[in-house]
Amino acid sequence: MTLTVPETTSETTHLLDPRFHATGGPHDVWRWMRDHDPVHWHEPGQYPGFWSLTRYDDVRAVSRDARVFSSARGILLRPVTHGADPGGGHTLALTDPPRHKALRSLVADWFTTRSVRALEGAMRETVRAVVARAVESGECDFVTDIAARLPLYVICRLMGVPASEQELLFSLASKAFAAGDPETRRSAHQQIMQYFTDLMYRRMVEPADDLVSALVTAEVDGELLSEEDVLLNCDNLLVGGTENVRLAVSSGMQAFLDHPDAWERLRANRELLPSAVEEVLRWTSSATHVMRTVTEPVVLHGRQIHEGERVAVWLPSANRDERVFENPDRFDIARRPNRHLALGAGEHFCLGGMLARTEMRVFFDELLDAVASVEQTGPAVPVESIVVSGLERLPVRLTAK
Ligand code: HEM
Repeated sequence: MTLTVPETTSETTHLLDPRFHATGGPHDVWRWMRDHDPVHWHEPGQYPGFWSLTRYDDVRAVSRDARVFSSARGILLRPVTHGADPGGGHTLALTDPPRHKALRSLVADWFTTRSVRALEGAMRETVRAVVARAVESGECDFVTDIAARLPLYVICRLMGVPASEQELLFSLASKAFAAGDPETRRSAHQQIMQYFTDLMYRRMVEPADDLVSALVTAEVDGELLSEEDVLLNCDNLLVGGTENVRLAVSSGMQAFLDHPDAWERLRANRELLPSAVEEVLRWTSSATHVMRTVTEPVVLHGRQIHEGERVAVWLPSANRDERVFENPDRFDIARRPNRHLALGAGEHFCLGGMLARTEMRVFFDELLDAVASVEQTGPAVPVESIVVSGLERLPVRLTAK
């Protein structure tokens, strides 16, 4: 097969450059790929060779076929030097059916509409307290001081982290996710794992009504989960539960700062909150890619994909696919329909999808109630990553009503 527009094809290699993602540049490359090369092969290099899918229909189809597109060998592109993902075959996100289904049913109860609704009052109180503190402090960082707080509080509560220990976990998580010195990040992450090891042993002795106890006491195929499986799943829940919400909320705020009309429209009509949340999810698409490994030969748009090859689906690209979304580059908080793929699709659809949507709705609702204005006081700093996108820092000043 002959490909056209080779000069842009060479730019597809930039998709593996974290700094390129921080510039917002991938959207031009993805647009080109959707039009000219929707099933694109990346030669091996720093990363193993893999296929890139950029169109909505293809991304959705791959996400919905867990048999042919396996998650068990990892769901993120990893440099060749990093070897296999240690979570492979262990965590919810990195298992295939039928084990995946059994694992998911162990924890699914905590994420149902009913369970999430029961947390809404506490979520509102948390946001009010966080916003009040931010107003008082004058200038602050929207990402760490505001957006990161609610998701961490909620996941700690679900996992059974006592209130007195949440501040410790917050400070460790802030270091583990922050940009900068990789050694500081690694050390913070190790301390988080140590924390969960202690909590796991406490719950083995005295189980409570929380996620860690569920993982410690439940059985899959008649066997208890290994300690390693419990820990890797705790880590997965902590990262999944905090990182993406923090990024979506802070990039969502940035979108509102860039589109003040949308912010005022939402202030005036809170019935738009649910569709605004969906548009923030689509617009920010904080999970940048998800990877699968093909278990049998498949042909996609005439390209032969062999068993064992990797396929990366780019979610922000699918969510701007002009074949599906009208004016995809417009931030429209009343957009309908808006069947974005920011939370994935199929069996691995985000376990915390309902939780994330509720956190975001509560967050923006409370913020609009509490403040007269949010003013950006310095340049936003984007995250440099090929895995997630969003902001590292957003300096703001909140003014009370
Ligand atoms: C804006 C917020 C969020 C975004 C954009 C997001 C995105 C995603 C995506 C794209 C997937 C699918 C991965 C795949 O197909 O392999 C996923 C799965 C998952 N998410 Fe989220 N997520 C968010 C919030 C949360 C929250 C609050 C939790 C709470 C614990 C969570 C926990 C998980 C877990 C455990 C999985 C794996 C599910 C499975 O494999 O069955 N996420 N998420």
